[in-house]
Amino acid sequence: MMIKTQNTQSKIPNLKSKISQSPYQAYVYSYPHKTAYRPFTPPIYLPQLWTQQDRQALFLYIHIPFCEMRCGFCNLFTTVSHNEDFISQYVGTVQRQAQRMKAVLGNASFARFAIGGGTPTQLPIQHLETIFDIAENTMGAKLQEIQISVEVSPETATEEKLKLLRSHFVDRVSIGVQSFIDSEVLATQRRQSTTQVEAALTRIKAAGFPTLNIDLIYGLPGQTVDTWLQSIHAALRFQPEEIYLYPLYVRPLTGLGRTDQEWDDIRLACYRQGRSLLLSQGYTQVSMRMFQRVNLSPSSPPSPVYCCQADGMVGLGCGARSYTNTLHYSNEYAVGAKGIRDILQAYIQTPDELFEYAHYGFQLDAEEQRRRYILLSLLSHEGLNLVGYRQRFGSDVYADFPELSELLTLNLAIKDEEILQLTEFGIERSDTIGAWLFSDKVQKLMHGYELK
Ligand SMILES: C[S@@+](CC[C@H](N)C(=O)[O-])C[C@H]1O[C@@H](n2cnc3c(N)ncnc32)[C@H](O)[C@@H]1O
Ligand code: SF4
Repeated sequence: MMIKTQNTQSKIPNLKSKISQSPYQAYVYSYPHKTAYRPFTPPIYLPQLWTQQDRQALFLYIHIPFCEMRCGFCNLFTTVSHNEDFISQYVGTVQRQAQRMKAVLGNASFARFAIGGGTPTQLPIQHLETIFDIAENTMGAKLQEIQISVEVSPETATEEKLKLLRSHFVDRVSIGVQSFIDSEVLATQRRQSTTQVEAALTRIKAAGFPTLNIDLIYGLPGQTVDTWLQSIHAALRFQPEEIYLYPLYVRPLTGLGRTDQEWDDIRLACYRQGRSLLLSQGYTQVSMRMFQRVNLSPSSPPSPVYCCQADGMVGLGCGARSYTNTLHYSNEYAVGAKGIRDILQAYIQTPDELFEYAHYGFQLDAEEQRRRYILLSLLSHEGLNLVGYRQRFGSDVYADFPELSELLTLNLAIKDEEILQLTEFGIERSDTIGAWLFSDKVQKLMHGYELK
């Protein structure tokens, strides 16, 4: 099948001019982004949708939208206004949704499970336990056999909660540190001291999780390349199996504001030096942001790459997305406090039967499915497998998207018979290449989205 991309001609000069602009155009952690989602009229009946999907190795994701603080940079769907009663109602609603989803899915099994947020460990311990119970006993996930990942924050990674995670076979803990320099963290309105971070990391190491991931951010107010490298060195002392280096993004309604050339230059310098440091310390680069340690001891299992964009994702909780090959859906999305509160209220009041429908999302036609495949594989170190593409879609990728050859002309990628792979320059421009690969339709929807 030949895919006609509507703007092939206009895209070629477009990439060239985009590359000369800021390298930080859009963080592509999922395609399409939630801001391209719209209401479905009529809503889509989930049992019909999921029977068409292979359900033998699904990804279960449970979203916990609570935090102890609202960091100035964060645009995730999360709230700091919660009390015991509200948390209880929220977890009860996740349980109701899970019961309906289990019936929707029928004979299904899970290969991976993640609890994300927000901050999952913000939940009081009995509720955290209920979340594992939902995964295991309602959804039927075999916790002992599958890869499980949980996000924690320094203050909430208590010994008691880490013990609970370990006893439920969690094998990857991801902690948002952002910076080991107190003044840099405080400038983002994040209440956290380095002493507290180091104590949390020590507790996590002692608990013995196979994989520790540490998130760091570059481009923070007051940060220099030197202080950035200090933070990476501080992280390395804990020998994490994974490190994510995130360039700071400042998006509307998130409190921090800066867009200038000098900031781009600092971020690029931090990226390059941070990358070199990690490569020199035995890490491999998996994507622009993700680094994995390669010199693991022979007894350590290979660290799984947690890719939240995989097809066959069952999302539970208010901010979770679900994906099949053809449909992505979720609740509505907001970043501002009021928008989030309203959506959360509506979630806990949802009658059981409405959990059997998708109300809001994006339908992927043949072109969008191909774009998604290209985006996700090209932006990772494995690259775009041309044979795999042909096997999956029955067509030739260069015939479908002739504009991809522009990546070669601009030295952003190299190719052999089988693989189209980003070069070092291409990886550092991932956020430009990703945005360039968005379809016209998705771009229009994203631009037309009114942020709440
Ligand atoms: C899913 S978030 C949640 C992490 C966890 N709640 C915490 O803060 O400890 C994962 C990571 O994304 C990164 N992140 C979030 N917002 C960002 C932004 N605006 N710019 C750059 N990185 C960001 C942070 O490093 C954060 O730790
Ligand atoms: S960065 Fe983490 S702790 Fe901070 S508001 Fe976002 S989700 Fe919550």
